[in-house]
Order: sequence, then C-alpha cells, then structure tokens
Amino acid sequence: MKDHRDRLPPAKPISDPTAFLGPMRLPAIVLNFKTHPEVLGKKGWDLAKRFAAVADETGASIVLCPPATDIAHVAKLVHVPVFAQHVDAVEPGPTTGWMPPETLLEAGAAGTLINHSERKVAWEEMAKSIPRCQKLGLEVVACADDISEAETLAKLSPEYIAIEPPELIGGDVSVTTAKPEVISRAVDRIHAVNAKVVVLCGAGVRTRKDVSKALELGTSGVLLATGVVKAKDPESALRDLIRGLPSGAPRRSRSR
Ligand code: G3P
Repeated sequence: MKDHRDRLPPAKPISDPTAFLGPMRLPAIVLNFKTHPEVLGKKGWDLAKRFAAVADETGASIVLCPPATDIAHVAKLVHVPVFAQHVDAVEPGPTTGWMPPETLLEAGAAGTLINHSERKVAWEEMAKSIPRCQKLGLEVVACADDISEAETLAKLSPEYIAIEPPELIGGDVSVTTAKPEVISRAVDRIHAVNAKVVVLCGAGVRTRKDVSKALELGTSGVLLATGVVKAKDPESALRDLIRGLPSGAPRRSRSR
C-alpha cells in the first residue's frame, strides 16, 4: 500500500502562535496526562518541560495532553504539540462550561483527543466537532474501544484513530501483548474505510518493546498515561519508550 506519510510541512518560527498547528510527526508517543494528581498544575508544568527537553534531545515526536486547565500554560512552556483531552461541538458564545474548539486554539493547542473511553462522546457530537476542529487547523485523535467503533469513526475522517480496549487501560499488560490481533485488524479495517487515517494504539503501553510491537502491528504510534505519569521516574520511563521508536527514522508526518 502507498505510504501516504512522506512530506514534512515547512517549519514556522516558534514565536508564531500557529507554529505547532500542523501534522504530528510520526511515529509518535502521545502522553495523556488525564487528571492524575502527579500532573496537576505546577507538577504537570515541570514534567511537561522535562518531557519536551527529552523530545528535543532525542528528536523523538512527543505529544502532550495535559488537563484542560493546564493547556495554555503548558503550550507556552514547551515546543512540542499540546493536545486537549476533549472538545465540545458547541459554538463559542453563551455556552458556559463547554469547550468549543476555538477555546483550544486560543489556548495554544495543536489538536485534541475525543471520545476517550473515560470521556465518551455521542456520534452526532463527533460528526460536528471533528470537522469544526479541522477547519481551525486542530488535529483530532478519535479514540475507539474496539474494531467496530474504530471502523465507524474512520467515516468521520479524523486525522488519527487510537484503538484502546478499555479493560486494558491502566493495566500492567500492554494491548500489544494481550490483544495484538485487535490492533492489526483495526489497522486493516480502518484503512479499508479511509486510507488517510493514521492509527495509534494504547492501553497498558509501558516499555520500548510495547512501542516497537505497536509499530510492527501497523500503527504509527502509541497513546499512554500510567506508564509515564505514574512512573517512579517519568523521564526515564519516557526515554525507554523512545528507544522503541525506529532510531534515525526519517521525520515525517501524515500527508494532508
Ligand atoms: O489515553 C491513554 C490511556 O487511556 C491509556 O492508559 O494508563 O493504560 O497507558 P494507560
């Protein structure tokens, strides 16, 4: 199958607020901070800076997903893409407490997760919020619990679909070990519906072996939380994961 991920958009100056809008570099490690106590507020800001320094040093593609209340601060602190954990389809205006895409953009986010198993969203909602994000240049990682949900989500053309069996989330066994067939079949089924969608996987991913296995199964990266956020030494946990990425791999991003 033609590899459609072959051109890196021209770099923009860091001062440009839209500098980090644009395709995530692949393969990627996406760190979902969730709302774990270890990463709230200043603790999360410090960790984000350390993760960004590791990304700089290693050249690895790292994406950070802090809680909504920390997006703006983290986006100012780091020069790696910052994604939100959720987005609402509502329009900006008298929508108290909702998070329309415009709020993420203004906060400096480059994209967002949506439909995570811990924050499910109705299909009709996603059918509105995904194109609204894309119109603003925000990339979308749509999360799927299983192959059939992933296949259905592919019809909405999110940039990325992350397959994460909920029963393995937060566990000690990686999805790449417990259910490799689910990952490889999800890749095939998603691409059968929409070959442009980039597939990620998550749930229990913790080591370089899990990362290299995820790539072997046809994905372009991983989505994880516990393995880094709850690690005794989050930075060295991240370094180990990065060793699972193909070293010296050409920097590439998905084609538009
Ligand atoms: O979004 C990532 C997440 O749900 C996976 O969680 O803790 O198993 O890495 P974890």
